[in-house]
Amino acid sequence: MIQKIILPGMSEKQRLLYQLDIYRGDLESEIAPGNKFHKLRYHIKAAKEKNARYVATFGGPYSNHVHAFTKSAIKAGFLPLVIIRGELHSTLTSTLRDCVSDGAILFPSQRDDYRLGLRSEIKSEVDKLYSDVYWIGEGGGGTLGVLGCCDWADQISHIINKKYDTWCVSSGTGTTSLGLACSNAVESLQVFNALKGAEDIEHEVEVLWHKMAGEFTHMKHADPLSKMSFWHSKEFGRFGKLPLEVADFLKELYFLNPTLRLDPVYTGKMAYRIWLKIKHNCWDYQRSLIVHTGGLQGWRGIKGTLNPYPNVDEPITM
Ligand SMILES: Cc1ncc(COP(=O)(O)O)c(C=O)c1O
Repeated sequence: MIQKIILPGMSEKQRLLYQLDIYRGDLESEIAPGNKFHKLRYHIKAAKEKNARYVATFGGPYSNHVHAFTKSAIKAGFLPLVIIRGELHSTLTSTLRDCVSDGAILFPSQRDDYRLGLRSEIKSEVDKLYSDVYWIGEGGGGTLGVLGCCDWADQISHIINKKYDTWCVSSGTGTTSLGLACSNAVESLQVFNALKGAEDIEHEVEVLWHKMAGEFTHMKHADPLSKMSFWHSKEFGRFGKLPLEVADFLKELYFLNPTLRLDPVYTGKMAYRIWLKIKHNCWDYQRSLIVHTGGLQGWRGIKGTLNPYPNVDEPITM
């Protein structure tokens, strides 16, 4: 579904000039909301084709990806193995507790080794312990993740009933944004980088695109890079931190849009940054569509007093 967003503190002129809508990807799936289902879909299919018994991935202690991956793996009949960034503490985070109770086996890692991803020592250790493992990179990325998100944009375009000047999405690995931009349905895409200091995301997306065009020749003519504009977030401190001004903005936004919840790391910060641009009349687009990529479980990694929503685990009824 697509919902209109009412922004706080707008002048009458700004209200008339800027239309901001949101595609509620968060409502699509309970186990893998937002971009998660789409990034994982082709990976799960490939794991089945390879007759894998285990599927394995990487993530941080509050990772949305790890949460959705575990549930999707179990549902598809695989045993999930997860390499966690850093040590495991005796009290697991709520995200990891969910994973363990769903059936995931967790492996702690040294941060330096973790960064090596599929080339890490911990990955080799896991491969020694288990055979028939299908590996998915951190965040569910790679070309199969891109492919799933390209399909997602096509699906979203079928329920759109007006022309948008631009689409907006938040990025971590850049997989989702590249996938959306690969679709003919998207002519312009604003990509809001959620990771501080990850300015090389543009380069990574370019590399991923060349890989994509090599593997899927039908994609060759998509020209996604020319549609994408990247916005970086130097002002936002650490990845898992929620600045007070963003928390206050989300509180006001919730008051005006009581059926809409955004996550603290990706969609919430993106909405705040778009709002600032509109407020200062430096947003070039009259009709914009935000894609809600889910991630609401991530509120469990944020101080409770900053959370504007009554109970994040409660299903939202529209
Ligand atoms: C809620 C949410 N939005 C956006 C993203 C960014 O997606 P990507 O890594 O594909 O850029 C993530 C990370 O997977 C996420 O959890």
